[in-house]
Amino acid sequence: MCGIVGYTGGKQAKSILFEGLRRLEYRGYDSAGICVVSPDGELDCVRAVGNLDNLEKVLEGFDMPGTLGIGHTRWATHGAPTESNAHPHLDCSGDIAIVHNGIIENFTRLRHELSERGHTFKSDTDSETLAHLIEEHYRGDLAEALRKGLSQVEGSFAVVAACRKNPGEIVGARRNSPLVVGIAPGEYYVASAVPAFLSRTRTVLFLDDDEILSIGSEGLKIILMDGSEVQRDSAEVGWDIDSAEKGGYEDFMLKEIFEQKKAVEDTLADKFNSRGEIEMEGLDLSGEEARNLRRIIVVACGTSYHAGILAKFLLEKWGCLPVEIEIASEFHFRDLAVAKGDLVIAISQSGETADTIASVKAARKLGARVTSIVNVVGSQMGRDSDDVIYTHAGPEIGVAATKTFTSQMAVMYPLAMSIGLLRGTVSSEICDSVMKELRSIPSKMENVLDFDGTVREVAGKFQNCPDFLYLGRSFGYPIAMEGALKLKEISYIHAEGYPAGEMKHGPIALLDDGVPVVAIATRDSVYDKMINNIEEVKARKAPVVAVTTVGDTRIADICEAVFEVPETMEVLYPLLTVIPLQLLAYHIAKFKGCNVDQPRNLAKTVTVE
Ligand code: M6R
Repeated sequence: MCGIVGYTGGKQAKSILFEGLRRLEYRGYDSAGICVVSPDGELDCVRAVGNLDNLEKVLEGFDMPGTLGIGHTRWATHGAPTESNAHPHLDCSGDIAIVHNGIIENFTRLRHELSERGHTFKSDTDSETLAHLIEEHYRGDLAEALRKGLSQVEGSFAVVAACRKNPGEIVGARRNSPLVVGIAPGEYYVASAVPAFLSRTRTVLFLDDDEILSIGSEGLKIILMDGSEVQRDSAEVGWDIDSAEKGGYEDFMLKEIFEQKKAVEDTLADKFNSRGEIEMEGLDLSGEEARNLRRIIVVACGTSYHAGILAKFLLEKWGCLPVEIEIASEFHFRDLAVAKGDLVIAISQSGETADTIASVKAARKLGARVTSIVNVVGSQMGRDSDDVIYTHAGPEIGVAATKTFTSQMAVMYPLAMSIGLLRGTVSSEICDSVMKELRSIPSKMENVLDFDGTVREVAGKFQNCPDFLYLGRSFGYPIAMEGALKLKEISYIHAEGYPAGEMKHGPIALLDDGVPVVAIATRDSVYDKMINNIEEVKARKAPVVAVTTVGDTRIADICEAVFEVPETMEVLYPLLTVIPLQLLAYHIAKFKGCNVDQPRNLAKTVTVE
């Protein structure tokens, strides 16, 4: 959580920093601030509680000349969202300013020791410790002071600092939190994520853990914690700035829902060779390795976990081996019976989720092979894994995952199929027919999006219901889970996603005429069972909204509303059925006046355990 930015170059820093923060606001919006080194060597700092609109208002009355500065948008961990806890934080002398993302785990002890040595703290944050540690070690060399200070720190950090005594220098470092450098002629940007500077450059340099960055008059330098220097090549990112703009849509979330056709097309593009055969870019598994697999464990959090449930079903079906699905925030705390011969598949949009990264590390330590499925290029999880397969959904700014979910699911089909082919557990005929139909899915997704108006009407009818139950069986089950998560996170309405067969084992007690049930009931092998469940719901007078296959009058006749999706193969329905549920959550949230891009208490990326 938290977004950090830094800039040094020939332009005025204030507006560049603010624009960078705007693009990182999805990472946290409890408070924000920027600090610019003025031409006469002063640190001009402005901070405000709340989202960036508040900071913008304060900045309007503030002239902040200077071509070097740092900024921060906060998701509170230690300390309430107050102005004194907002970043940047200063040391005692007011010479050094820092912004930080992560958690300093030994901050209580460090703070106590620093206080005993005369440092005065002005905030309740763990982050402020960093400013004081740098101050203690500062002898004129800012990067060296940062290096020495960080050697005392336990935990995770991405930190950027400026000092008024080194007015042309910006320094930074990272450990288990992202920090990326953008390079343009005569200019450098430092940020938590590429969208912060995507409108200005696509040339990037990714830092590794425990590397100290110094950008000054002699250019960019990277030093390790032992003081030695390393060279690093820059790379070009493929994302373009349009993908990080609203492009005429009211919200990023709506835009991203409508981008799903392209996101899935782009994601599938590098999973096939020119002959149309599956060739998973990023997966380097031989036939022998695939045949020797003991089992597969899929780990993920939140929406990515729901994509993981689908992965389990597909891997079992085509790979014919045991597959477990694990919530990452539970997995890595256990005494794991993971060993060589296990393949762990980690799924994450950001590639930064702390629990999923910890799970990846724990599994690799025990000898498992780890393949991660990630959207953000250069992210930590990819670097911690044996193989990385990318979804190519482009930047997702809305906090609620939408296009990255369908892209994650889209990856699972060629991935599970290729493992099945390598193991000899699925025929090439089945593979060809599924992959052929998979390629037709993006255009079918477009048909589903045409129903936006209908979904809005239904949302209007049910917007005031305090509870929803989402039901699905088999391939509909992960979609029921995801539909419920979408509704609760952006509209703050209580919603439960449940396997439909489990309804009778408890949740049915909740039903009455005020609790709508959203049922995924496409024409597939569990269709009749879903109809039975819908009848059971109707018998308790609960209204039913069903996602059905086009032309299904049987369900339409018994439900209050239906969203029809085009006919496809049973395994592929999830790619279509989730779309009306995303739209339903979106429109209900809009009716309720919620900020769908920045739901309360949430941050896009959860970098703390
Ligand atoms: O970046 P990740 O996919 O690892 O993030 C996992 C979850 O934090 C994320 O999916 C979260 O549940 C979203 N807010 C869902 O919309």
